[in-house]
Amino acid sequence: MTRRILLVNGPNLNMLGTREPAIYGHETLADVVDLVTRTASEFGIEVRAMQSNHEGEIIDAIHAARADCDAVIINPAAFTHTSVAILDALTAVELPVAEVHISNVHSREAFRHHSYVSPVAQCVIVGCGVQGYEFAVRRIATLLAG
Ligand code: DQA
Repeated sequence: MTRRILLVNGPNLNMLGTREPAIYGHETLADVVDLVTRTASEFGIEVRAMQSNHEGEIIDAIHAARADCDAVIINPAAFTHTSVAILDALTAVELPVAEVHISNVHSREAFRHHSYVSPVAQCVIVGCGVQGYEFAVRRIATLLAG
């Protein structure tokens, strides 16, 4: 059966490309989805991409992934630093998780140094720009290959 990754991008990432380009670069969310889809296709893996500015919609998408996805790649954006609910959702579905941050959150404000999601992540990729999403796909493919 074809394997599938749920790609989740959190709040404000719909504005990638125009949002603080000095920090997040010039590539758009569409570019990210394209990169993830192309990289996953190298491994015969499908991608379901969603972006939301609403915590509950992200939680619903994570719950739905339990039925038909094999892994989650998530950039929870600001919810990284606030959301026990997203941590609980990821814990509940028991799928491998790759956490991605475009910027190096550890070189930024102190409130960005803590992630509620990291304890449940198999890998955490920070500060690699949008290329971090590609690394996440490759790592997930390795994990899924067993
Ligand atoms: C981010 C880092 C977060 O601190 C921030 O709130 C974001 C994006 C990143 O990709 O670098 O929205 O997750």
